[in-house]
Amino acid sequence: MSLFPTALPPSEAIALRGGPALRWGVLAPGRIAGGFVWALHHHTDQRVHAVASRDPERAQRFAATYGIPHVHASYEQLVADPDVDIVYVASPHSEHKRQALLAIATGKHVLVEKPLALDAGEARDIARAARAAGVFAMEALWSRFLPKTLLIERLLRDGVLGDVQLVMADFGGRFDFEPEGRIFNPALGGGALLDIGIYPIWLAHLVLGPPTRVHATGSLTQTGVDGQAAIVLTYPTGAQALLHTTLFAETPQEAVIAGSHARLQLDSRFFTPGGFTLKAARSDQQLRWTDPSGIQGSEGLAYQAAAVAQHIAEGLTESPLHPLEHSIALLETIDAARAQLGVSGRAP
Ligand SMILES: NC(=O)c1ccc[n+]([C@@H]2O[C@H](COP(=O)([O-])OP(=O)(O)OC[C@H]3O[C@@H](n4cnc5c(N)ncnc54)[C@H](OP(=O)(O)O)[C@@H]3O)[C@@H](O)[C@H]2O)c1
Repeated sequence: MSLFPTALPPSEAIALRGGPALRWGVLAPGRIAGGFVWALHHHTDQRVHAVASRDPERAQRFAATYGIPHVHASYEQLVADPDVDIVYVASPHSEHKRQALLAIATGKHVLVEKPLALDAGEARDIARAARAAGVFAMEALWSRFLPKTLLIERLLRDGVLGDVQLVMADFGGRFDFEPEGRIFNPALGGGALLDIGIYPIWLAHLVLGPPTRVHATGSLTQTGVDGQAAIVLTYPTGAQALLHTTLFAETPQEAVIAGSHARLQLDSRFFTPGGFTLKAARSDQQLRWTDPSGIQGSEGLAYQAAAVAQHIAEGLTESPLHPLEHSIALLETIDAARAQLGVSGRAP
């Protein structure tokens, strides 16, 4: 008989304030970089010290918009700034490896936007370089650090769901076709899997680990990147993950984790701050969790930054929550799916 809990355990959210603070340098001030800086300055004690763009005027505008005191004329100057503790790489996927290595080579810690690199081989190169330099390196997989993720992890650890048999998750969005833009352009690491499919794949890896088999079917865009993919991951236990991603349609962006005792239904958008419902497998019992913090959407980027500062203060060079091996494993799954879809590139 399953023991459905009478209440959910208290959430153990990462403290956004009161801990160690880093001086951040932003490399590539695009859309997400703006959200990241805003979240840091509004919700944490972290401070963005400097920004650099390929275009000095864009860097000036970004600095003025977000209250950043220093602007550098090049990425090289930013990583050489002795007052920058950590570099946040927020460029298109094709640039991640080169720019992460640039920061690591000057002895800087580095937080690299997701995915860590274009493929698992590049991700291993980053991991090797960071380990050799003894600096902290992490992929900015922000969903991993949200309060709900920590609570879900606790429920899984406590066996509340029983044997987990199934993870279902989707992330699809309707993107305008811009062949030169980073979403559709193969030269910039475009495609659904690397950009948004990484979130459902991450959830499956979080719950079930890396799969033993990857089956993917889907279609390519006119530019030759993956436009849509249905992915089945299988595990030695018989568990499965059914995942979907598309650039062509807005999908629910929900997730379900189903076990022999209970299932978790994550509200849309499952990878952002938000709630979930825990439902018993063989009764009407259910428990609802909502995020009490009031932090919404991309404000949730704050948690990963506070976690990184804490990890570095503790002398760690990787996050125990999201170590580099996890980022490499995500890319191994994505590499396999992209290869099956016929995406040309460096993936095997
Ligand atoms: N965590 C999240 O929620 C989230 C959300 C969206 C995106 N992302 C990730 O963040 C990264 C950037 O995405 P974004 O949407 O912010 O991109 P974006 O708005 O297009 O900005 C990317 C920036 O990269 C710089 N860049 C450097 N080399 C470039 C090149 N060869 N071509 C084009 N731009 C280049 C540009 O800055 P300068 O020219 O000024 O240097 C540009 O502003 C990606 O890894 C993406 O997956 C994460």
